[in-house]
Amino acid sequence: MKKGKFITLEGMDGAGKSTHIPTIVALLQARGLETVSTREPGGTALGEQLRTLLLHEPMHAETETLLMFAARREHIANVIEPALARGAYVLSDRFTDATYAYQCGAKGVAPDKIKQLEIWVQGDLRPDATLLFDVPVEISLKRLANAREPDKFEREDAQFFEKLRQAYLQRAAENPERFHIINANQSLENVKKLVENIISTL
Ligand SMILES: Nc1ncnc2c1ncn2[C@@H]1O[C@H](COP(=O)(O)OP(=O)(O)OP(=O)(O)O)[C@@H](O)[C@H]1O
Ligand SMILES: [Mg+2]
Repeated sequence: MKKGKFITLEGMDGAGKSTHIPTIVALLQARGLETVSTREPGGTALGEQLRTLLLHEPMHAETETLLMFAARREHIANVIEPALARGAYVLSDRFTDATYAYQCGAKGVAPDKIKQLEIWVQGDLRPDATLLFDVPVEISLKRLANAREPDKFEREDAQFFEKLRQAYLQRAAENPERFHIINANQSLENVKKLVENIISTL
């Protein structure tokens, strides 16, 4: 039975998700909570191997969706559910909203197909809270250009990223009870303050 809390971080490549994870972990640990910090695709040994394939091998968008959920099944069974059962706060750098945004919103996989996989793989597991780091596409691209060599997704064009951003905002509009939209187009200090305010309510 679930006792902990499941918190996910979402947003485009370069929005700032990974940057703020150490802050969130520190805030939760200061409250005496056990935290488990993980990511998707990945989070398990098999999941990380699937991540390498997903980020670097060209494949059909539905193959991508199926592999994402295969990795997710492993992640839930081996990491997320056991941690939640012992009362930990689980922090995942991306989860199923990313599948809706990338594979459905940006690549055109039918939302019903993702919904079926979500129900199959997750049962009734859904995030308790989702922090959506929202930035304009040109900011995201600029940050990525400075940060690192692009993977398969990061080499997509601006139109792809615009669809992605809109899909994320639509997910947030459809699930207002768990989404917190963060305007991440501001200084790191200001974004950090917004993150701290949200985490203090969870
Ligand atoms: N508010 C900000 N202002 C300026 N630069 C930022 C800000 N937030 C993050 N960055 C920088 O942008 C780059 C990308 O940030 P980060 O890796 O946290 O993004 P991400 O959302 O985790 O991306 P990905 O989905 O690709 O992993 C990093 O170099 C980071 O230092
Ligand atoms: Mg990241």
